Amino acid sequence: MAKLKSPKSIYVCQNCGAQQPKWMGRCPDCGEWNSFAEEKPVIAQAGSSPRGGGFRLQETTTLAYHEIESQDDARQPSGISEFDRVLGGGIVPGSLVLIGGDPGIGKSTLLLEVADKLSKNYRSVLYVSGEESARQIKLRGERLGINPQNLLLLAETCLERIFEEIDRHQPQAIVVDSVQTVFSMKLESAPGSVSQVREVAGQFLILAKNRTIPVFLIGHVTKEGTLAGPKALEHIVDTVLYFEGERHHNHRIIRAVKNRFGAANELGVFEMTGSGLIPVQNPSGLFLSERPVGASGSVVNACMEGTRPILVEIQALVTTSNYGNGRRMTQGVDANRVALLMAMLEKRIGMKVLGDDVFVNVAGGIGIDEPAADLGIVLAIASSFRNLAIDDSAVVFGEVGLAGEVRATSQASVRVREAYAMGFKRCLIPQGNLTALEYDDGIEVIGVRNVADAIEALF
Ligand code: TYD
Ligand code: MG
Repeated sequence: MAKLKSPKSIYVCQNCGAQQPKWMGRCPDCGEWNSFAEEKPVIAQAGSSPRGGGFRLQETTTLAYHEIESQDDARQPSGISEFDRVLGGGIVPGSLVLIGGDPGIGKSTLLLEVADKLSKNYRSVLYVSGEESARQIKLRGERLGINPQNLLLLAETCLERIFEEIDRHQPQAIVVDSVQTVFSMKLESAPGSVSQVREVAGQFLILAKNRTIPVFLIGHVTKEGTLAGPKALEHIVDTVLYFEGERHHNHRIIRAVKNRFGAANELGVFEMTGSGLIPVQNPSGLFLSERPVGASGSVVNACMEGTRPILVEIQALVTTSNYGNGRRMTQGVDANRVALLMAMLEKRIGMKVLGDDVFVNVAGGIGIDEPAADLGIVLAIASSFRNLAIDDSAVVFGEVGLAGEVRATSQASVRVREAYAMGFKRCLIPQGNLTALEYDDGIEVIGVRNVADAIEALF
């Protein structure tokens, strides 16, 4: 008698989504250990209606470029200034937005506030939660002091059921909290697995495009800091926002990592209060609010986050090491960059810092990864090494090369204007930026060619 053949399993890497016919200890694609899970393959049924409640992309035809209507005026402001800013000026209808972040950072809180604001302009907004009951969401809403009229809540995790409800209520915006809890009955794998998350995101993408409504997906983040499950999700969606911030600080930062409708790296700053997330209009003021006056090792650096200038305080502490090898610890800046700048200080300026313990920190828990912070890092280390405070009415920025030269950076005028707006008196900038600089008279601008000049100008 012939054996009944069951559909063959495949093994899918839960980190990168690679598929293998056999289980493997280590993924040959991404190198992750012990990441394969057994899943049933998805069999596409030819001719039948597509999976997930009957949504499929509309019939398409080829169009001439000039015949296509421009859509830019269609942006809808959410009414939360900082959220609109990271989205590139408002919500684009038909866009699929993924919001990732650590547990408890405030994703559900923010999206409930957004849903509330949207429900004031739209006929109805649907908030789907796979994590909390409708009662719990209402409790949070009461805490936030919102009073929405057209907000619908649905505590459901089955994708097909969710789509039935969407068909019934025809919402004009949808929030899904979270994409990892929703599963499709068409797949056998567990909720949160790569296949499920991809399927769910794919179905919501088709829904968003067909109905031209915005859909917000909340996603969890793993210990390593990437979205749980597949990185592949980031390719599917239009916009990826990451929530950053430390549990011990009240401010929260949202960063646009990818945005098909605006600038990436755009940044929104919020403060978590007893009644929800409040947009912070002046982040420089927030990050400088507790700056020590007259202390050595503290320098204010003008950074750019997307299109927005932010002044941050870079702190360094250089202490004699009791052991042979100096320790390096950094928070908010790249440790390798600091090591490189220290080697430059030792060789070009003659500061013997390599044997010392060096700690560098960006105050307020914000992370900076642009080269224009180099000058701030170098001067903070030099200031702590010499135990001399630098002029606390000065702001610096500039990229530092290995020869100790200070190189021009982008957006110099914007940075100088922010320094002026925040009441600083002097600004140390790369010489190369001086010629094209536009700024107000109230601030003294000093161009420097190299680190030695900068140290001379400030000490
Ligand atoms: P939440 O939005 O549930 O986080 P996530 O969905 O990202 O897991 O936020 C929960 C945290 O926010 C919780 O620790 C309490 C805090 N919180 C406030 O401080 N104020 C508030 O008004 C609300 C609603 C939450
Ligand atoms: Mg939540």
